Amino acid sequence: MPRDRVTKALIPAAGRGTRFLPITKVVPKELLPIVSTPALEFVVAEASRNRLTDVILVVNEGKAAIADYFAPHPELEAVLAAKNDQTALATIKRAANLATIHEVEQLEPRGLGDAIAQGEELAAGGPLAVLLPDDLIDERDDLLEQMLAVYDERGGIVLGLIDVPRAEIRKYGCITPGDSDGDVVAIKDLVEKPQPERAPSTLAIIGRYVLPPEIFAALRETQPGAGGEIQITDAMRQLVRNGMPAHGVVFRGRRYDTGDRLDYMRAVVQLGTRHPQIGAPFTAWLREYVQGLE
Ligand code: UTP
Repeated sequence: MPRDRVTKALIPAAGRGTRFLPITKVVPKELLPIVSTPALEFVVAEASRNRLTDVILVVNEGKAAIADYFAPHPELEAVLAAKNDQTALATIKRAANLATIHEVEQLEPRGLGDAIAQGEELAAGGPLAVLLPDDLIDERDDLLEQMLAVYDERGGIVLGLIDVPRAEIRKYGCITPGDSDGDVVAIKDLVEKPQPERAPSTLAIIGRYVLPPEIFAALRETQPGAGGEIQITDAMRQLVRNGMPAHGVVFRGRRYDTGDRLDYMRAVVQLGTRHPQIGAPFTAWLREYVQGLE
């Protein structure tokens, strides 16, 4: 039987964003801008580029602004149309045209595994790509495309991986690697946030997953793990131990982490230098500014 093609992406956006307080009292972390575009839109655009036609956003009651961002705004559209401002009109319509957006609520931020579990009904028995909105992958290095190709060929679980310095593995989920074929590595086991000296490898799981429908049953049986949260790594480990094939794609391209303040500032500067309108003058200014610091 041919494998179901992945057509749905789930993007969890129901966390508390405590590292970005106080702004996250009122603005969801996922809407913080890279120049003037929310980080979340970059990730929805990545899903759209990879022919994922349905995007499931996991939100909570404090995140109404996320739904508003992806909804049409007829009044503003009318004002811009009257001024014949086609550029602004295109930018405000862009997000809504990327995919069919669905929302589900996670009542309490009980962890990434629990956030993903909220997508079960909308996944409707099919596989799901999960994209974390604080992990931006440069569009020139499409990791997800490679991961979806591995899923088409081999099924099971497919994870995005990066090779990190050993001291940093404690911040990530980590895999025990098996055989590898170029950048594709078989996964024999997984562990969340290991101590560096005990970590089975330096291959860290980043925010891109392709998950088979069996993940939902595994999540139902997953107890809170590291940090008291329902960990997706624990549910995946259970599937792997029961014989589910799992592979990772080791990513060596450009990635921008927007999950904490320092990384977010780096991402804004890096992507700011490539911005279609302000990139060139910003880069020229940045060069002079940095010279002034030396
Ligand atoms: P993070 O751990 O980076 O987000 O989760 P957070 O918990 O909001 O951040 P801090 O640590 O308090 O600053 C990665 C993604 O998973 C979502 C978050 O919204 C974020 O986009 N998430 C996390 C959920 O949707 N639900 C959860 O229970 C946890």
